[in-house]
Order: sequence, then C-alpha cells, then structure tokens
Amino acid sequence: MDSAELRRRFVSFFEERSHVVRSSASLIPVDPTLLLTNAGMVPFKPYFLGEEPPPFARAVSVQKVVRTIDIDIIGTTTRHLSFFEMMGNFSFGDYFKPEAIAWAYELVTGPLGMDPERLWFTVYESDDDAAQIWIDQVGVPAERVQRGGKDNFWQMGVPGPCGPSSEIFYDKGPEFGVEGGPIDGGGEERYVEIWNLVFMQNLQDQPYHVVGDLPAKNIDTGMGLDRVAAILQNKPNVFEIDTIRPVLEAGSALSGVDYGADPMSDVSLRILADHGRTVTFLIGDGVSPSNEGRGHVLRRVLRRAVRHGWQLGAQDMVMPRLVEATIGALGICYPELVQKRDQIMDVVEREESRFRRTLESGHQLLDTEIAGLGETTLIPGSTAFRLHDTYGFPIELTTEIAAERGLEVDLAGFEREMSEQRDRARRAWKGGDEAAAQDIYRELQDDVGPTEFLGYELESSPARVLAILGEGDQLERADAGRLVEVFLDRTPFYGESGGQVGDSGTISTETGVIEVDDTRHAVQGFHGHRGRVSSGYVMIGQDAETRIDSPRREAIRKSHTGTHVLHWALREVIGAHAHQAGSLVEPGRLRFDFSHFQGVTGPELDEVERLANHRLIENGHVQTTVTSREQAQEMGALAFFGDKYGERVRVVQIGTFSTELCGGTHTHTAAQVGPLVVTSESSIGSNLRRVEALTGDVAYERLIAWRRQLEESARLLRVPVAQVPQRLAATLERLEALEDQLGAARAGDLSGIAEKLSSGATAVKSSKILVDHVTGLSQDEMRRVALDIRERLAPGVVVLGTVNDGKGSLVAAVSPALVAAGVSAAVIAAAGASLLGGGGSRDPELAQAGGPQGDQLEAALEQARSEAERSLAAL
Ligand code: SER
Repeated sequence: MDSAELRRRFVSFFEERSHVVRSSASLIPVDPTLLLTNAGMVPFKPYFLGEEPPPFARAVSVQKVVRTIDIDIIGTTTRHLSFFEMMGNFSFGDYFKPEAIAWAYELVTGPLGMDPERLWFTVYESDDDAAQIWIDQVGVPAERVQRGGKDNFWQMGVPGPCGPSSEIFYDKGPEFGVEGGPIDGGGEERYVEIWNLVFMQNLQDQPYHVVGDLPAKNIDTGMGLDRVAAILQNKPNVFEIDTIRPVLEAGSALSGVDYGADPMSDVSLRILADHGRTVTFLIGDGVSPSNEGRGHVLRRVLRRAVRHGWQLGAQDMVMPRLVEATIGALGICYPELVQKRDQIMDVVEREESRFRRTLESGHQLLDTEIAGLGETTLIPGSTAFRLHDTYGFPIELTTEIAAERGLEVDLAGFEREMSEQRDRARRAWKGGDEAAAQDIYRELQDDVGPTEFLGYELESSPARVLAILGEGDQLERADAGRLVEVFLDRTPFYGESGGQVGDSGTISTETGVIEVDDTRHAVQGFHGHRGRVSSGYVMIGQDAETRIDSPRREAIRKSHTGTHVLHWALREVIGAHAHQAGSLVEPGRLRFDFSHFQGVTGPELDEVERLANHRLIENGHVQTTVTSREQAQEMGALAFFGDKYGERVRVVQIGTFSTELCGGTHTHTAAQVGPLVVTSESSIGSNLRRVEALTGDVAYERLIAWRRQLEESARLLRVPVAQVPQRLAATLERLEALEDQLGAARAGDLSGIAEKLSSGATAVKSSKILVDHVTGLSQDEMRRVALDIRERLAPGVVVLGTVNDGKGSLVAAVSPALVAAGVSAAVIAAAGASLLGGGGSRDPELAQAGGPQGDQLEAALEQARSEAERSLAAL
C-alpha cells in the first residue's frame, strides 16, 4: 500500500465517522510557546484548553511535523525522522476512550489490513478503564495489554493539556528482538509504536505536573504515517518507503555511494534523506536560516546534511537535489512545495554555498587547533567561539568533529563568549552605533537575502516576513506596541537614498499590522521597515500584504522630478558649474545644494524659477531606462560626484532637456509636479549654496496663502490688488514725511522743556547743578533733554529721573570740562540707582541707571544730588 493510499484510508475512515477533514497547518505554529509544529494536535490546542470554542466536535488530519529532539540518533535507527507526517483523529469534548480505542483497532485490522496477531497494546499504569476496553470490549488477549509509566502519559507545553495514553505496537518479528511485548520484552526495535491514543483530560503547569482537569474530556491521536507505511510496504525501515526512498537515492546519486554499501555511509545517506525533507518543508513554510529560534533549527539541520554530503565526497551542492527529490515525492500531497520551489532552491543554494566555504576553512583551522592541543582533550571555548565568529562554524559541528576524535569542547566557555558578544552588539545598537549595528544587518542579510524592490511599479504587494528586529534582538514574533524593524523578501517601500526620504505605510499579516513610518537601506539593497506593531502580532515566516502611503509617495515623486527640473534650470541660469552637492526630497518640499561662488541674485533666482515652471507646464514625458554605464554616458546623463553606481544604471529623462542617473521615484509627466515655488536661497559653506522650494499641493497652498495676504493688504490700503505696491510706497513716503514733521515739532518741545528746567539750576562753586523729576518723556527724550540742559549750564551736572511702569530710571550728564577734572556721570547715576535697587552704565559724560523700586525715585534723586555736590565741592 503506497503512502498516498494509506493517507486516504485513514482520512476517509474517520470522515465516515463524522470527522471534519482539516488540512495540515503550517510548521510555524501560531502558538507563541512553541517553536515548531511538533504534533498533530498543535493547531487544536486552544480547543483542548477551552480557550476557544471548537468549531466542530470531531476532526481528522494529516499534519506535517518537525521534531528535532532526536536529531542525534537520526540515521542510526530504523524509525526516527526529524520531519514526518502524523495522521490523527480528534474529539473535542465529544467521544472518549471506548470509541477511540475501538475505532483504532477496527482501522488497523480492517482497512490497513494488519495481522491482529502482531498487535500489542499499552495503557497508563493506573488506567483500568482503557485496559478493560481493550480486553472486554475489543476482545484482545489480556496478556498483550501492558501497563507503562511516563511513556503512557502525554503532555504538550506549559501551561498545556495532558493525559494518559494508550499505544498500539506492531511486532516486526523475532529477528528484531526478544519476545514479551514492548514493555516487558524486546523493546521498540522489535515492537514499533504505530499509534498513540491520548485521553486528553488534564491541565499541567509544568511537564507531568497535573494541576486540574480540562473543561472537557478529549481525544488526541497520532499515527506516524511513515512508520506504518514501512510496515505495510514490508520495508525494514522508514527510509525505504515510497516517499523517502527517492530522497535517499538522490543522496546516493550525488555522492556516488550506494545505499547498503557500508553501515557508516548508510547513516549519512539516511541523514541526507531525512534532513533534505525537513529543510524542504521548513523553507516551504517560510522559515529562513538564521542564528535564532526556528531559523537556527533549519540552519542546523541543513548544515548537518551538507556536512554529511561533503564527508561522503559529494563534489556538487547536495541540498538542491535533495529538495528536488522531496518535492517529487510529496509535491502532490503538499502543493505549496511545488509553488515555492524556486524560493526553496534559492535559500538552500545560498546557505549551502556559504556553508561549504566555511566547512573548508573551518576544518583546516580546527585541525590546526587540535594538533596544537597537546595533552588536554578539551578544546577551549574561545577556540570554538572564534571558529563560530570568524568562520561561521556551528558549535554543533565543532562538538561533533571533536567527539569523532575523542575530544570535548568547553561549552560553558563558548556560551560565555557568545553572550558577551550578544551584549556588545545590543549595546552598540541601543547606543546608536551604526557601524557596529551594520554587522548585525550584514549577517542578517546573509541569512535572509536581499530585498527585491517593487516600488517603481507597485504601491502594494504580497510579501513574506523574513526577519524582525526589536532593539537589536532578532524576534520570532512581535506583539502590539513593539517598535520593530522588519525585513521582507520584496517590498514596494522605497528605502531612503539619493536624498529621497523613505516610504511609510502598512505591513499586515493574518494576525497583525505594522505601521511603518520610515524605510531605509539597513545595508544597500536590504530594506529595513521601521515602525510599530499597531495591532495583534506579527511573526517571522508569515505572508504579508504591504501597502505604502500612496498620497505621500505621490508628493515625494513630485518633489523628486521637481528637483531634476530645478537642477537643470540652475545650470541654465548660473552655469554648468552648479553641480549637485546634496539634496533632500520630501513630500511637497525639496532642498537642493550645489556649488557656486557667490549668492544667486534675485533676478537670477526669478529666472531659475520661471524656466523651471515653463518646463513643467510644457509637460514632457518622464522616462526611466535601466542601461549600462557606457550607454548612460552616451545619453549625456549627469552623474554626480560622490554617488556610487553599479554597472547597470538607471537613467531618468525629462522631456528632452534633463538626463540624470537616478534611483529615485518620479512622476510620469513633468506637469504632475505642479507649481515649483522657490522659497529661499542661502549659503551653507564655502562655495556651497542651497535653494529650497515647494512642489505640488504644498506649493499651491503657499501661493494661495500669499494671495490671501495680498488681498488683505489691499483691503487695508483700500485699493485694488494691482495697486498695492504703489499705494504702499506712497503711504510709506507720506509716513516718513509725517514722522519728520513730528520729529521737528517734538524737538522744539524738548528744547522748551530743557530751557524751562535749566532755570531751576543751583550753583556749586563755579559750576551748576540741576536735579529734577520729569514725566512724559521716553528714555531717549530724557537723554536728549539732559544733554541740552548740560549745554545750557556748562560747566554743569544734570540728573533727570522718571518712573515708568513702577521702575525708576535716571540719566546723568556732566560737561566734558568737569569730566576732565574728575567728576563722573556714572558715579552720580550709580549713587542714585543703588536706592532704586539697580545699577547703571559707565560713561562718565552721560550715564543711565535704574532699578525696580520706582517709589524710591525722590530719595534716589537726592542721593545723586549729594554725590554731585560732593564731587563739585572737592574740585
Ligand atoms: N499528541 C500525541 C502525539 O503527538 C498524539 O497525537 O503523539
């Protein structure tokens, strides 16, 4: 019976008994507590736990499963596999032990045609019910029902469902071991476990630690398809069944080593067959090789296979042929493998060729290290770390090779070095050390490959989540609220470059949404989408729908095409030396830096703007071509100092006037840029100028704002808009004349005030003093009046004071002759200001002083007077 027939019989047996047929779930579980789908019940876990109501009471499935717990013995036994298919029937609070047991027996001995004489059964040590059902209800001989311990209690995850189980075994015959059944007799080499019936009824908080009952009694069964196929196909081991043998043969063909030729090479061939399948299915479900989580499982399995191929002497790559054989054998049942064939090939080829280089250099290095070990049998942790860090030599491999030579590796020492390195990288990341963070990005890009950019044509597209970074850590899953940088296999998001800012938008998967607010090249060609998980969660390997913020991108396009047109116009007006030195292209605005030896004059700038807009209105086509560098040069493309281009270049032409090398995004025609409005021109360094401009809606809004301001001015001036300048000029002229008149009149007033005040002066020796409190004068006027009085008194001392807003201020003026004799206006003013709570200026001829305590003005004036009198008396 071939595997397909076996699969069919199992499913239809339960379908006939009202089970809903479920197709296999992905190997990447939704359940965040699990790394990989490792049992048929994984997709149903929430129903057992009562977290979600089951949509049906019974189900049947054939589930893809990966278990790597036995990885070290795979190939050395007849029945262990890291990837296998698990057939199962499930009851969610519906039927229980009697039906599950009876149906299992009926299916095995009926449609699957197994000899009842060869079947053995186990039950949990205290499970009398199950034993009784086997013996009394089904009628199997009592001596073939054995009781077991932990092996008959099944559990999954913490917290998780668990319960006693009953297993069915097939006796392969006396040549495989002694009589006596699976528990008391020859063990599993002779008695193969084919079916596990779990009576899922308990809840555990730690493995095998029951804390209560599940909301209902359930059934979860698992039958290993490959093991049963081996029995039904009369094969001594699982590697020879119809769906695995072709992969085994592929390994044999690529290494030139026949299966059966030698026990050691047979182990390697079985490893190739098993691992080839695991790798194919893991990548098919979206796992990429990496150093963490399930990516690490994949990498480890793949590299182990490559190493065994290499040891068998395979010259060419081994993985592609194993993948090919796997798809050939199972593609009919799992069409996703056929669909993703190219992607799977891509990943294995990249990973294998990388690893083969590592293998060669690492092996040599390890040999040298081992030769230098001397007496000790312990390979130092630092050596293992260096092999890992410099050559990417996996620790498992170092350990395996060491074991083959009777040596050990200091694993604790290795772990210490690893965690120190992780800390260093994380610190660098958080500290914004881009150069150190680059290493993380480069390694990540090596793992998952570059990003295909679709954004010249598309604004949204399906993609796949390949990696998620959160503060320097690689995440399997990111929940709502988390800031992340996401990497996809392809993207319409433009990564910031050539002055053009990155795109924003959304990345949505089945389970969550990321709001992307910036995109950049983490390393060239590797797009980092930065943003926050806004709802649900997002996981590596998920299919995603990407969508950029289209209106924003459109505004960016306008600015980018506008920048090229502005560049052209600048060169037209001020000369071809106006080289681009830098630019910033944002939605609605742009900044363009260029070399020029002096400021661009107003009329020049006007002309630049006029020419640019003329070209925009002319509305030439914008055409992009990808071509060779030589061809681009022939087309007259401007390439700019400082830019780096590959051999293939992208040329952007606008109409017939502008041709530039450019990787940016552009409008289809020139007029889509809208108006281009220059807003400023300035110097940003020696011989470097900067022009800023607006485009599209933003430029239009600015023009309209200006118009409104102009209309408002016209309204205030009470003239039509067209007459605003003349009217404003005339008005300003009149205002100036009026101010002159007013000034003259005021001057007359001030001189009258001075005259009047000076009559109050008193004499000290041959000089005069006037100290007075004035009101209604500004500071400046007070100063002018003080100087006027000083002339009238010469030689003399004037002190005027006033209060304004509660603050007191003083002006003191001293004739130059008295200054020469040692009298100081500053000293006099300061003497008064000390009472006002402040200080003053230092000019000895004319000093000003003041302070917050205006109510002390009279006292302050008196103090100033005493100081003045004292100074004059001392002459
Ligand atoms: N969950 C059990 C197993 O994986 C039965 O399906 O063996």
